[in-house]
Amino acid sequence: MSIPTPHIAAKEGDFARTVLMPGDPLRAKFVADNYLEDAVLVNSVRGINGYTGKYKGKSVSVMASGMGMPSIGIYSYELFQFYNVDNIIRIGTAGSLQDDLKVREVAFAIGACTNSNYAAQFELPGTFAPIASYELLKKAIEVTERMGISYKTGNFLSTDTFYDDSKGTMKWAGMGVLCVEMEAAALYMNAARAGKNALAICTISDSLVTGEATTAEERQNSFHNMMKIALEIA
Ligand code: HPA
Repeated sequence: MSIPTPHIAAKEGDFARTVLMPGDPLRAKFVADNYLEDAVLVNSVRGINGYTGKYKGKSVSVMASGMGMPSIGIYSYELFQFYNVDNIIRIGTAGSLQDDLKVREVAFAIGACTNSNYAAQFELPGTFAPIASYELLKKAIEVTERMGISYKTGNFLSTDTFYDDSKGTMKWAGMGVLCVEMEAAALYMNAARAGKNALAICTISDSLVTGEATTAEERQNSFHNMMKIALEIA
């Protein structure tokens, strides 16, 4: 396959080496409008607006992933395989599964468990453990500590089912899993297969332990710490 791809209408060289990926297209626009200088729209297929601009003189792109592993699977595959992107940093939201991981805190996924069948395509004779890029994670932790932002780092659950009939999500808490979201595992698998780098950073938007939640407006706008960390390591 070549560019443009079925889902991205950008030209060769339109994306920076590092792409920040929120789930929400409005959040991608928010990052471009508030943090990037000279941001140029490079994709708008299906409303998945992608922008490339400068942050502190570095070229950085931001484009939404959409929700769920099939969606981030498509966009991260096309960026890694056809647009020569080296690093994808997911900047998303997640639901806390632990008492001591509070709403609005930042969490980094060292690894991502999943109830998805995404790994089946690789036909491995066992279970793959999707992990972050150690380099990106190390840089993210250094930057976060320098900024004095509190964070947690550990295992995430990437689920296919936001509304889970089995009510099984909390079971993962018993294995020390920090939080639940819907994209990290597929992103990490695509990065592994492409020999590229990925990191998932999430702000906790709600707690499955306490039932506390942030509003949609807060979700879109009040994730500055996470965005700054991602931009600093881009
Ligand atoms: N489940 C799945 N994904 C999420 C959640 C959740 O509770 N919160 C934010 N992303």
